[in-house]
Amino acid sequence: MLSLLIAVANSFYLPGVAPSDYEYNATIELKVNALSSLKKTIIPYDYYHPRFHFCQPKKIISESESLGSKLFGDRLFNSPFNLKMLRNESCVVLCKAEIPAEDAEFVNYAIKENYLMNWMIDGLPAAQKTNTGMEHATIGFHLGQTITKDKPVPVLNNHYEIYISYHTKDNKKFRVVGAFVNPSSTEFDDCKRDDNDGGLELSSKMATKFTYTYDVYWIPSEIEWASRWDHYLTSDNNKIHWFRRDISRYNDIEIEDSQEEFGWKMIHGDVFRSPSNRMFFSVFVGNGAQMLGMAAVTIALAALGFLSPSNRGSLPTVMVVFYVLFGSIAGYISARVYKLCGGSAWRQNLVLTSALVPGSIFLLLLVLNFFWIAQNSSSAVPFGTLFSLFALWVFLSIPLSLIGAYIGFRTPKIQVPVRTLQIPRQIPDQPFYLQLIPAVALSGILPFACLLIELMYIMNGLWGNKIYYVFGFLMLVFVILLITTSLISIIVCYFSLCAENYNWWWRSFFSGASCGFYVFLYGIIFYATKLEISDVTSTILFFGWTALMSAGLGLMTGTMGFFSCFYFVKSIYGAIKID
Ligand SMILES: *[C@@H]1O[C@H](CO)[C@@H](O)[C@H](O)[C@H]1NC(C)=O
Ligand SMILES: *[C@@H]1O[C@H](CO)[C@@H](O)[C@H](O)[C@H]1NC(C)=O
Repeated sequence: MLSLLIAVANSFYLPGVAPSDYEYNATIELKVNALSSLKKTIIPYDYYHPRFHFCQPKKIISESESLGSKLFGDRLFNSPFNLKMLRNESCVVLCKAEIPAEDAEFVNYAIKENYLMNWMIDGLPAAQKTNTGMEHATIGFHLGQTITKDKPVPVLNNHYEIYISYHTKDNKKFRVVGAFVNPSSTEFDDCKRDDNDGGLELSSKMATKFTYTYDVYWIPSEIEWASRWDHYLTSDNNKIHWFRRDISRYNDIEIEDSQEEFGWKMIHGDVFRSPSNRMFFSVFVGNGAQMLGMAAVTIALAALGFLSPSNRGSLPTVMVVFYVLFGSIAGYISARVYKLCGGSAWRQNLVLTSALVPGSIFLLLLVLNFFWIAQNSSSAVPFGTLFSLFALWVFLSIPLSLIGAYIGFRTPKIQVPVRTLQIPRQIPDQPFYLQLIPAVALSGILPFACLLIELMYIMNGLWGNKIYYVFGFLMLVFVILLITTSLISIIVCYFSLCAENYNWWWRSFFSGASCGFYVFLYGIIFYATKLEISDVTSTILFFGWTALMSAGLGLMTGTMGFFSCFYFVKSIYGAIKID
């Protein structure tokens, strides 16, 4: 237990981003991360995957990383590059390489699939350098390119121009503030490319022998160390974030008060009648509250700048840690809601609360992991990491959930303002728009619209090799999303009550949760229009993750919907006099 906690604490170091000062001629580390594809497939490969035959250092050392960074596919290793502060160099031979005929096909495939090299120079990801300047939005640079001779052929980049920007105040100590690479392909070994150079084609008939070379250019820069991340984080188009103002304006539209002010008062004897399947209801609400807590803390920490992108993996690590800790919230809320609904099978409630949702998540991760492993991909989560996740769940999350549930069951039942009558009232026919499915479908649209633009950025961050870093906006969106969800669920709830329908419990949950359903639909559209995935495994993995994301979101907004309605119903029925 203790060593587990220490391990978690170790991977949980917060900012940890002290600047490194280098003197003239000091060595700067270049680390290599897994290769990832730009939009075409989502399966990354280790840099030292044997079929690539990249130059290797004498001893390959894996850099220790946090739990979260492992979970999200970071695989950092050292490299044989020899970068010395302020020493421009040209045509340094990295190594002589040879790609055997049987691996040429694999490398060519990776080039065609737009695989990108991901290097870290002094902790900064290297971006592609272009003629027009530095291209910031996308990190990483191309493994190779397709050139047209008689027909299009893939060529491998075997020469790298490395541009490193540095900043200095006193000309004694220097700091790295930018890293860009311009890769190119050449069939000759002397780095003197000319028009006759057709690029390095890999033969699939015999082994191709060639040389990897690089140049280093140190460029003085005015950018200070503190803002060295800024240019990676500027989005393609910041203006788009301001469209949101128009969307939130919709929130101000006032809903006309219903003329049937009467209906809801007549069902006071049924309005707190407990829902069908109260067991699952309380379990979902409890687990939704747990996710809400986790999301709120993570987004707040990120927006406050604690989870800097230079501290790789800190975001998922924080998510995992708070998810585990907030098992206590799940236990507590689930117990209280279950008690409110008049349930008595508390043992079953305990087990389901601590096992159903986290267990399903774990199972899904496990299954998806098999797909990564089958593809021999670097994104396969190592067994040790999976085991620590499992241990965190069993030894920390479940006990915390039990403690929460114990407190929840010991707390007196929540008092409701009106008594429930013995005999249920007949529910009259409902107008079409108030029937369950149309009502739920309609209520998800507005919250989803609030989320839509942010979602584009998040999806690009997850699948498009971009760094997502507008957490200030994300927090704003999160708050707007929660407010919109509450308002919409209350409106749907109120109209249903007016139509004398007292089955508001699940309805309020579903009207909140339907936003998650729209996010999944969006995932399908994103897959069809923005990605060019053609292999089955990538497809399964993409939809596995998207389903996980949408379900998590649905649980959160569903819980929000229920709680808003509950307090709404409680207060309106508390305000009337029943004769
Ligand atoms: C830089 O350091 C290397 C050893 O790391 C040394 O061989 C070389 O002479 C130094 N160059 C200068 C210009 O100081
Ligand atoms: C290195 O080369 C670049 C580009 O040619 C030049 O701008 C820079 O001043 C050089 N730096 C040093 C330290 O010589």
